[in-house]
Amino acid sequence: MKRILVRETVNHIGKKVLLKGWIHVARRMGKMIFVDLRDISGIVQVVFLSDNQELLKLAKTLRPEFVVEIIGQVNQRPEKLINSKMPTGTVEIQAQELKVLAESKTPPFEIAEEKEAGEALRYKYRYLDLRRESNRKMIIMRSKFIKFIRDFLHKEGFIEVETPILGKSTPEGARDYLVPSRVYPGKFYALPQSPQQYKQLLMVAGLEKYFQIAPCFRDEDSRSDRAPDQFYQLDLELSFITQEEILNLTERLFTDVVKTLFPEKKITYSPWPRLTYQEAMDKYKTDKPDLRKNKNDQNELAFCFIIDWPLFEPELEDGHLAPAHHMFTAPKDSDVPLLEYEPKKARSWQHDLALNGYEVGGGSIRITDPKIQEKVFELVGISKDDIQSKFGHLLEAFQYGVPPHGGIAPGIDRMLMILLNAANVREVTAFPKTGDNRDLLMNSPSEVSEQQLKDLHLKLSSKK
Ligand code: AMO
Repeated sequence: MKRILVRETVNHIGKKVLLKGWIHVARRMGKMIFVDLRDISGIVQVVFLSDNQELLKLAKTLRPEFVVEIIGQVNQRPEKLINSKMPTGTVEIQAQELKVLAESKTPPFEIAEEKEAGEALRYKYRYLDLRRESNRKMIIMRSKFIKFIRDFLHKEGFIEVETPILGKSTPEGARDYLVPSRVYPGKFYALPQSPQQYKQLLMVAGLEKYFQIAPCFRDEDSRSDRAPDQFYQLDLELSFITQEEILNLTERLFTDVVKTLFPEKKITYSPWPRLTYQEAMDKYKTDKPDLRKNKNDQNELAFCFIIDWPLFEPELEDGHLAPAHHMFTAPKDSDVPLLEYEPKKARSWQHDLALNGYEVGGGSIRITDPKIQEKVFELVGISKDDIQSKFGHLLEAFQYGVPPHGGIAPGIDRMLMILLNAANVREVTAFPKTGDNRDLLMNSPSEVSEQQLKDLHLKLSSKK
């Protein structure tokens, strides 16, 4: 007999079906036993009647989270017993056979009733936490969200490319996660803070339209909208493109995503407003304004783009400038001469995407002139030697016919946090770290053996 999902039972009234799943709730009612059986598609009620004593005896052993196989008859419920809150509320399964496939210890928190259980406990037992309906839904929506984006971009002629995880540091303003090399003592790979340089090199390679659901690694303090370890970006880059074309594409993509996958949400402004950095600061005192008409409405989405950024942030203590976005963002053509004598006044081709008061994406038109790129490296305080050792490959690539190009990288996790009304950015990932950056499930970070350290040519200066 072929297994069907509980959701499909409503299409099998009067028939015998085979169901497999977890015991959600089990309760005795007089001489009968009722269980809610849960699988990936939902929940259905199963009844064990007293006319089959042997079956009833086995059913009495059922506890929440046991894994079972049940054969039973799908019966239409009488009118007054219909549960309109359940998609399977019109039927009930009358059990005929039961097999326990796996028993379960009592879980450390209830699955059926989603009472607050504390982050540490939930993440230590994340595989149980994900059995809770609201959490499972988030992971399923994440999958649909990413599939939608992929399908949309493939239709638009984009090529999906994976760039290296073990790479070389591309600064995005955070600390790097470093991986020591065994083969080259004293040398390190860096996990990418973003694939910024690789995607630009793909433009030099002539791929023209690239995207990737890119894992990014940044060692930074955790905030509700910021993962302390890794997150995913929808990383995009296009050649022969204008800023407005990048913004349009982004707007079309996410408008379609919202309309298709989140029909309960309303987008406040269409087209999405384009504010200059100065306008945003003057009017809202922030570069990520919350333009919602009703800030308490969880279903309102007010997207806007911020453009015309200054190329640099105010001077650092050492007299050097820090890039407002990153070092590869192009100055406005008319402001290039300012780099020589008043760089702080130069405006750039940066664009940020803001949503309900969060920065959900950033990008720009890039520098492609090696001389301008070198000048920007200098202004941010990178020595001539370091320019060569850190970015020589990019400057060299730009000497072999580089197309004008630009892109954007909306944060997948941050967008989903807002779209799914999640408490923080970690909740929309399957296996999040705690706020203090520990994986309590697998217990990492963890110590490694002396031998591993030796192989990697590492010596610890102190042990805590
Ligand atoms: P940027 O550094 O602005 O740009 O990052 C783009 C987007 O990534 C998301 N994001 C994060 N999400 C969760 N946790 C974090 N720690 C985190 N850090 C960033 C945000 C942010 O808007 N290479 C450029 C993109 C480009 O120029 O095309 C970049 O990485 O949603």
